[in-house]
Amino acid sequence: MTPQTTQSYLDAIPLPAVFVGLDSRIRGANSRAVAINSNAGETRPFVLVFRQPSLSEAVDNCLSDRKPQKAIYHHSDGPHMVRYDVSLAFVDAGEEAGVLLCFNDVTHLEQADQMRRDFVANVSHELRSPLTAILGFIETLLGPARDDAAAQTRFLGIMSAEAGRMNRLVGDLLSLSKVEEDARRRPTTEIDMDALMRAAIRNLSPIAEENGSTVTYDAPENPTLVAADQDQMMQVFTNLIENALKYGGQGTKVTITTYEVDRDSTLGRAARCFDIVDNGPGIDPEHIPRLTERFYRIDSHRSREMGGTGLGLAIVKHILNRHRGRLRIESTRDKGSKFTVVLPK
Ligand SMILES: Nc1ncnc2c1ncn2[C@@H]1O[C@H](COP(=O)(O)OP(=O)(O)O)[C@@H](O)[C@H]1O
Ligand SMILES: [Mg+2]
Repeated sequence: MTPQTTQSYLDAIPLPAVFVGLDSRIRGANSRAVAINSNAGETRPFVLVFRQPSLSEAVDNCLSDRKPQKAIYHHSDGPHMVRYDVSLAFVDAGEEAGVLLCFNDVTHLEQADQMRRDFVANVSHELRSPLTAILGFIETLLGPARDDAAAQTRFLGIMSAEAGRMNRLVGDLLSLSKVEEDARRRPTTEIDMDALMRAAIRNLSPIAEENGSTVTYDAPENPTLVAADQDQMMQVFTNLIENALKYGGQGTKVTITTYEVDRDSTLGRAARCFDIVDNGPGIDPEHIPRLTERFYRIDSHRSREMGGTGLGLAIVKHILNRHRGRLRIESTRDKGSKFTVVLPK
Protein backbone atom coordinates (compact mmCIF):
# COMPACT_ATOMS: atom_id res chain seq x y z
CA MET A 1 0.00 0.00 0.00
CA THR A 2 1.35 3.41 -0.87
CA PRO A 3 1.03 6.20 1.71
CA GLN A 4 -1.74 7.68 -0.50
CA THR A 5 -3.68 4.43 -0.39
CA THR A 6 -3.32 4.30 3.39
CA GLN A 7 -4.53 7.87 3.63
CA SER A 8 -7.53 7.32 1.39
CA TYR A 9 -8.58 4.27 3.42
CA LEU A 10 -8.24 6.32 6.61
CA ASP A 11 -10.27 9.16 5.11
CA ALA A 12 -13.09 6.74 4.29
CA ILE A 13 -13.50 5.64 7.92
CA PRO A 14 -16.38 7.53 9.59
CA LEU A 15 -14.57 7.65 12.96
CA PRO A 16 -11.28 9.23 14.02
CA ALA A 17 -8.68 6.72 12.76
CA VAL A 18 -4.90 6.45 13.03
CA PHE A 19 -2.56 3.97 11.36
CA VAL A 20 0.66 3.01 13.18
CA GLY A 21 3.51 1.19 11.38
CA LEU A 22 5.57 -1.77 12.64
CA ASP A 23 8.16 0.70 14.02
CA SER A 24 5.43 2.19 16.30
CA ARG A 25 5.45 5.44 14.34
CA ILE A 26 2.29 7.01 13.02
CA ARG A 27 1.87 6.40 9.27
CA GLY A 28 -1.31 8.38 8.77
CA ALA A 29 -4.43 9.78 10.38
CA ASN A 30 -7.72 11.08 9.05
CA SER A 31 -8.95 14.61 9.68
CA ARG A 32 -11.32 13.38 12.42
CA ALA A 33 -8.30 12.09 14.35
CA VAL A 34 -6.43 15.35 13.81
CA ALA A 35 -9.46 17.14 15.27
CA ILE A 36 -9.02 15.33 18.58
CA ASN A 37 -5.20 15.46 18.56
CA SER A 38 -3.60 18.05 16.31
CA ASN A 39 -0.33 16.05 16.15
CA ALA A 40 -2.04 12.84 15.04
CA GLY A 41 -1.00 13.37 11.41
CA GLU A 42 2.75 13.57 12.10
CA THR A 43 5.05 10.61 11.44
CA ARG A 44 6.27 10.55 15.03
CA PRO A 45 6.31 7.69 17.53
CA PHE A 46 2.72 7.02 18.57
CA VAL A 47 3.60 7.11 22.27
CA LEU A 48 4.82 10.73 21.95
CA VAL A 49 1.66 11.90 20.22
CA PHE A 50 -1.05 10.09 22.21
CA ARG A 51 0.49 10.28 25.64
CA GLN A 52 -1.66 7.73 27.41
CA PRO A 53 0.24 4.66 28.61
CA SER A 54 -2.69 2.21 28.39
CA LEU A 55 -3.31 3.18 24.76
CA SER A 56 0.39 2.86 23.80
CA GLU A 57 0.51 -0.48 25.56
CA ALA A 58 -2.48 -1.69 23.53
CA VAL A 59 -0.66 -0.60 20.32
CA ASP A 60 2.49 -2.51 21.38
CA ASN A 61 0.45 -5.62 22.24
CA CYS A 62 -1.36 -5.50 18.92
CA LEU A 63 1.94 -5.12 17.05
CA SER A 64 3.51 -8.06 18.83
CA ASP A 65 0.66 -10.59 18.97
CA ARG A 66 -1.33 -9.24 15.96
CA LYS A 67 -4.63 -9.78 17.78
CA PRO A 68 -7.38 -7.11 18.05
CA GLN A 69 -7.25 -4.98 21.19
CA LYS A 70 -9.55 -2.57 23.02
CA ALA A 71 -8.46 0.51 24.92
CA ILE A 72 -9.85 3.76 26.34
CA TYR A 73 -8.71 7.23 25.40
CA HIS A 74 -9.68 10.26 27.49
CA HIS A 75 -9.46 13.63 25.88
CA SER A 76 -10.37 17.01 27.30
CA ASP A 77 -12.37 19.14 24.91
CA GLY A 78 -12.36 22.49 26.68
CA PRO A 79 -14.21 21.97 29.95
CA HIS A 80 -15.65 18.61 28.83
CA MET A 81 -14.04 15.22 29.27
CA VAL A 82 -14.62 13.07 26.20
CA ARG A 83 -14.24 9.32 26.40
CA TYR A 84 -13.35 7.21 23.39
CA ASP A 85 -13.48 3.44 23.18
CA VAL A 86 -10.59 2.60 20.88
CA SER A 87 -10.55 -0.55 18.74
CA LEU A 88 -7.16 -1.70 17.50
CA ALA A 89 -6.76 -4.18 14.66
CA PHE A 90 -3.66 -5.50 12.98
CA VAL A 91 -3.56 -4.82 9.24
CA ASP A 92 -1.13 -6.64 6.96
CA ALA A 93 -1.27 -5.23 3.43
CA GLY A 94 1.96 -6.42 1.84
CA GLU A 95 4.72 -3.85 2.30
CA GLU A 96 2.57 -1.71 4.60
CA ALA A 97 1.65 -3.39 7.89
CA GLY A 98 0.71 -2.07 11.28
CA VAL A 99 -2.13 -1.27 13.63
CA LEU A 100 -5.32 0.57 12.73
CA LEU A 101 -6.88 2.46 15.63
CA CYS A 102 -10.52 3.64 15.46
CA PHE A 103 -11.84 6.03 18.14
CA ASN A 104 -15.49 5.77 19.11
CA ASP A 105 -16.87 8.64 21.22
CA VAL A 106 -18.93 7.02 24.00
CA THR A 107 -19.29 10.08 26.24
CA HIS A 108 -23.05 10.37 25.61
CA LEU A 109 -23.53 6.67 26.39
CA GLU A 110 -21.68 7.13 29.65
CA GLN A 111 -23.80 10.19 30.50
CA ALA A 112 -27.03 8.34 29.67
CA ASP A 113 -25.86 5.51 31.86
CA GLN A 114 -25.12 7.92 34.71
CA MET A 115 -28.57 9.51 34.32
CA ARG A 116 -30.22 6.11 34.43
CA ARG A 117 -28.32 5.19 37.58
CA ASP A 118 -29.24 8.52 39.24
CA PHE A 119 -32.87 8.02 38.27
CA VAL A 120 -33.05 4.51 39.72
CA ALA A 121 -31.34 5.72 42.91
CA ASN A 122 -33.83 8.61 43.21
CA VAL A 123 -36.86 6.41 42.63
CA SER A 124 -35.66 3.87 45.18
CA HIS A 125 -35.02 6.60 47.71
CA GLU A 126 -38.45 8.18 47.15
CA LEU A 127 -40.21 4.83 47.52
CA ARG A 128 -38.18 3.73 50.48
CA SER A 129 -39.18 6.50 52.90
CA PRO A 130 -42.95 5.92 52.77
CA LEU A 131 -42.35 2.18 52.78
CA THR A 132 -40.14 2.44 55.88
CA ALA A 133 -42.85 4.47 57.61
CA ILE A 134 -45.56 1.93 56.73
CA LEU A 135 -43.43 -1.00 57.92
CA GLY A 136 -42.69 0.82 61.17
CA PHE A 137 -46.36 1.46 61.86
CA ILE A 138 -47.32 -2.14 61.06
CA GLU A 139 -44.82 -3.25 63.67
CA THR A 140 -46.24 -0.79 66.20
CA LEU A 141 -49.79 -1.92 65.45
CA LEU A 142 -48.82 -5.54 65.97
CA GLY A 143 -46.90 -4.74 69.16
CA PRO A 144 -47.16 -1.77 71.53
CA ALA A 145 -50.38 -0.35 70.00
CA ARG A 146 -52.17 -3.71 69.81
CA ASP A 147 -54.89 -2.67 72.27
CA ASP A 148 -54.84 1.09 71.78
CA ALA A 149 -57.79 1.93 69.55
CA ALA A 150 -57.03 5.66 69.39
CA ALA A 151 -53.40 5.08 68.34
CA GLN A 152 -54.54 2.53 65.78
CA THR A 153 -56.83 5.03 64.10
CA ARG A 154 -54.10 7.64 64.04
CA PHE A 155 -51.44 5.27 62.67
CA LEU A 156 -53.77 3.90 60.00
CA GLY A 157 -54.35 7.49 58.90
CA ILE A 158 -50.62 8.08 58.53
CA MET A 159 -50.16 4.75 56.76
CA SER A 160 -52.90 5.64 54.34
CA ALA A 161 -51.21 8.99 53.59
CA GLU A 162 -47.85 7.27 53.03
CA ALA A 163 -49.42 4.65 50.77
CA GLY A 164 -51.10 7.50 48.87
CA ARG A 165 -47.69 9.08 48.38
CA MET A 166 -46.31 5.85 46.92
CA ASN A 167 -49.33 5.58 44.69
CA ARG A 168 -48.85 9.11 43.34
CA LEU A 169 -45.19 8.45 42.73
CA VAL A 170 -45.92 5.29 40.76
CA GLY A 171 -48.65 7.14 38.84
CA ASP A 172 -46.24 9.95 37.93
CA LEU A 173 -43.55 7.48 36.91
CA LEU A 174 -46.02 5.74 34.61
CA SER A 175 -47.10 9.10 33.11
CA LEU A 176 -43.49 9.99 32.49
CA SER A 177 -42.77 6.73 30.72
CA LYS A 178 -45.96 7.03 28.66
CA VAL A 179 -45.08 10.55 27.52
CA GLU A 180 -41.61 9.39 26.56
CA GLU A 181 -43.10 6.54 24.59
CA ASP A 182 -45.41 8.94 22.71
CA ALA A 183 -42.67 11.54 22.23
CA ARG A 184 -42.44 11.08 18.46
CA ARG A 185 -46.17 10.95 17.78
CA ARG A 186 -47.45 14.46 17.45
CA PRO A 187 -51.08 15.01 18.44
CA THR A 188 -53.32 15.89 15.49
CA THR A 189 -56.83 16.27 16.96
CA GLU A 190 -57.91 19.80 17.76
CA ILE A 191 -59.27 20.27 21.24
CA ASP A 192 -61.07 23.11 22.96
CA MET A 193 -58.51 24.48 25.39
CA ASP A 194 -60.98 26.75 27.19
CA ALA A 195 -63.22 23.84 28.17
CA LEU A 196 -60.14 21.94 29.27
CA MET A 197 -58.87 24.84 31.36
CA ARG A 198 -62.26 25.25 33.05
CA ALA A 199 -62.37 21.53 33.85
CA ALA A 200 -58.86 21.67 35.36
CA ILE A 201 -59.86 24.64 37.53
CA ARG A 202 -63.04 22.89 38.61
CA ASN A 203 -61.11 19.76 39.64
CA LEU A 204 -58.80 21.86 41.78
CA SER A 205 -61.49 23.99 43.41
CA PRO A 206 -61.45 21.94 46.67
CA ILE A 207 -57.72 22.72 47.10
CA ALA A 208 -58.33 26.39 46.33
CA GLU A 209 -61.18 26.58 48.81
CA GLU A 210 -59.17 24.91 51.53
CA ASN A 211 -56.39 27.48 51.01
CA GLY A 212 -58.69 30.48 50.77
CA SER A 213 -57.23 30.97 47.29
CA THR A 214 -58.88 31.99 44.04
CA VAL A 215 -58.31 30.97 40.45
CA THR A 216 -59.56 33.27 37.73
CA TYR A 217 -59.50 32.48 34.05
CA ASP A 218 -59.99 35.14 31.47
CA ALA A 219 -61.42 33.04 28.63
CA PRO A 220 -61.43 34.62 25.17
CA GLU A 221 -64.71 35.05 23.29
CA ASN A 222 -63.86 32.62 20.49
CA PRO A 223 -63.04 29.06 21.42
CA THR A 224 -59.32 28.32 21.53
CA LEU A 225 -58.67 25.28 19.37
CA VAL A 226 -55.25 23.66 19.44
CA ALA A 227 -54.02 20.29 18.15
CA ALA A 228 -53.20 18.59 21.42
CA ASP A 229 -53.60 15.47 23.52
CA GLN A 230 -56.56 16.06 25.80
CA ASP A 231 -55.40 13.97 28.78
CA GLN A 232 -51.85 15.25 28.61
CA MET A 233 -52.85 18.92 28.39
CA MET A 234 -55.14 18.32 31.35
CA GLN A 235 -52.10 17.04 33.24
CA VAL A 236 -50.10 20.14 32.24
CA PHE A 237 -52.69 22.64 33.45
CA THR A 238 -53.56 20.64 36.55
CA ASN A 239 -49.91 20.48 37.56
CA LEU A 240 -49.28 24.17 36.99
CA ILE A 241 -52.43 25.40 38.73
CA GLU A 242 -51.94 22.96 41.59
CA ASN A 243 -48.34 24.17 42.05
CA ALA A 244 -49.48 27.79 42.05
CA LEU A 245 -52.05 26.96 44.75
CA LYS A 246 -49.74 24.74 46.81
CA TYR A 247 -46.56 26.80 46.72
CA GLY A 248 -48.31 30.17 46.57
CA GLY A 249 -49.47 29.69 50.16
CA GLN A 250 -52.67 30.75 51.90
CA GLY A 251 -54.92 33.14 50.02
CA THR A 252 -52.99 33.04 46.75
CA LYS A 253 -54.53 34.67 43.72
CA VAL A 254 -53.99 32.59 40.61
CA THR A 255 -54.68 34.35 37.35
CA ILE A 256 -54.79 32.56 34.02
CA THR A 257 -54.77 34.32 30.68
CA THR A 258 -54.40 33.15 27.11
CA TYR A 259 -53.21 35.04 24.03
CA GLU A 260 -51.60 34.54 20.66
CA VAL A 261 -48.20 35.74 19.50
CA ASP A 262 -47.22 36.12 15.84
CA ARG A 263 -43.77 34.79 16.49
CA ASP A 264 -42.45 33.09 19.59
CA SER A 265 -38.71 33.70 19.78
CA THR A 266 -37.83 30.12 20.75
CA LEU A 267 -40.31 28.27 18.56
CA GLY A 268 -39.64 30.69 15.71
CA ARG A 269 -43.33 30.65 14.73
CA ALA A 270 -46.83 31.72 15.73
CA ALA A 271 -47.93 30.39 19.08
CA ARG A 272 -50.82 30.16 21.51
CA CYS A 273 -49.72 30.98 25.07
CA PHE A 274 -51.27 30.37 28.47
CA ASP A 275 -49.95 32.29 31.49
CA ILE A 276 -50.52 30.79 34.93
CA VAL A 277 -49.59 33.54 37.36
CA ASP A 278 -49.53 33.44 41.15
CA ASN A 279 -48.72 36.08 43.73
CA GLY A 280 -46.91 33.62 46.03
CA PRO A 281 -43.37 33.80 47.42
CA GLY A 282 -41.70 33.41 44.02
CA ILE A 283 -38.65 31.32 43.11
CA ASP A 284 -34.99 32.31 43.38
CA PRO A 285 -33.34 32.57 39.94
CA GLU A 286 -30.78 29.84 40.61
CA HIS A 287 -33.56 27.23 40.90
CA ILE A 288 -35.49 28.17 37.77
CA PRO A 289 -33.39 26.34 35.14
CA ARG A 290 -33.49 23.16 37.23
CA LEU A 291 -37.21 23.01 38.11
CA THR A 292 -38.06 20.67 35.23
CA GLU A 293 -35.44 18.11 36.27
CA ARG A 294 -36.87 14.91 37.67
CA PHE A 295 -37.16 15.02 41.45
CA TYR A 296 -35.85 18.59 41.66
CA ARG A 297 -37.59 20.45 44.49
CA ILE A 298 -36.64 23.68 46.16
CA ASP A 299 -37.78 22.48 49.56
CA SER A 300 -38.20 18.70 49.46
CA HIS A 301 -39.68 18.52 52.90
CA ARG A 302 -42.37 21.06 52.06
CA SER A 303 -43.07 19.45 48.69
CA ARG A 304 -43.47 16.00 50.29
CA GLU A 305 -45.74 17.45 52.94
CA MET A 306 -47.91 18.84 50.17
CA GLY A 307 -48.03 15.44 48.50
CA GLY A 308 -45.60 16.41 45.74
CA THR A 309 -43.45 13.86 43.94
CA GLY A 310 -41.00 16.28 42.32
CA LEU A 311 -41.99 14.89 38.92
CA GLY A 312 -44.79 17.32 38.01
CA LEU A 313 -42.78 19.86 36.03
CA ALA A 314 -40.65 17.12 34.43
CA ILE A 315 -43.88 15.61 33.09
CA VAL A 316 -45.10 19.06 31.96
CA LYS A 317 -41.86 19.62 30.06
CA HIS A 318 -42.01 16.24 28.34
CA ILE A 319 -45.64 16.73 27.35
CA LEU A 320 -44.90 20.16 25.90
CA ASN A 321 -41.89 18.78 24.02
CA ARG A 322 -44.16 16.19 22.47
CA HIS A 323 -46.42 19.06 21.36
CA ARG A 324 -43.37 20.92 19.98
CA GLY A 325 -44.12 23.62 22.51
CA ARG A 326 -42.27 24.82 25.57
CA LEU A 327 -42.58 25.95 29.17
CA ARG A 328 -41.29 29.37 30.19
CA ILE A 329 -40.80 30.26 33.85
CA GLU A 330 -40.39 33.77 35.21
CA SER A 331 -40.42 34.70 38.86
CA THR A 332 -39.64 37.55 41.19
CA ARG A 333 -38.84 36.94 44.84
CA ASP A 334 -41.81 37.99 47.04
CA LYS A 335 -43.92 38.96 44.00
CA GLY A 336 -44.88 35.59 42.54
CA SER A 337 -44.28 33.32 39.59
CA LYS A 338 -45.45 33.07 36.01
CA PHE A 339 -45.47 29.74 34.18
CA THR A 340 -46.19 30.13 30.47
CA VAL A 341 -47.27 27.23 28.28
CA VAL A 342 -46.33 27.99 24.67
CA LEU A 343 -47.92 25.80 21.97
CA PRO A 344 -47.25 26.14 18.24
CA LYS A 345 -50.29 27.27 16.26
N1 LIG B 1 -45.83 28.40 41.48
C1 LIG B 1 -44.74 28.04 42.20
N2 LIG B 1 -44.24 28.86 43.17
C2 LIG B 1 -43.15 28.51 43.89
N3 LIG B 1 -42.48 27.35 43.73
C3 LIG B 1 -42.91 26.50 42.80
C4 LIG B 1 -44.06 26.78 41.98
N4 LIG B 1 -44.24 25.75 41.12
C5 LIG B 1 -43.27 24.86 41.41
N5 LIG B 1 -42.46 25.29 42.40
C6 LIG B 1 -41.28 24.57 42.94
O1 LIG B 1 -40.85 23.66 41.95
C7 LIG B 1 -40.71 22.35 42.52
C8 LIG B 1 -41.00 21.31 41.46
O2 LIG B 1 -42.37 21.29 41.11
P1 LIG B 1 -43.02 19.92 40.60
O3 LIG B 1 -42.12 19.36 39.56
O4 LIG B 1 -44.44 20.17 40.25
O5 LIG B 1 -42.88 18.96 41.87
P2 LIG B 1 -43.77 18.81 43.19
O6 LIG B 1 -44.94 19.76 43.10
O7 LIG B 1 -44.21 17.40 43.14
O8 LIG B 1 -42.84 19.09 44.32
C9 LIG B 1 -41.65 22.34 43.69
O9 LIG B 1 -41.21 21.43 44.67
C10 LIG B 1 -41.58 23.77 44.20
O10 LIG B 1 -40.46 23.89 45.06
MG1 LIG C 1 -46.25 19.75 41.35
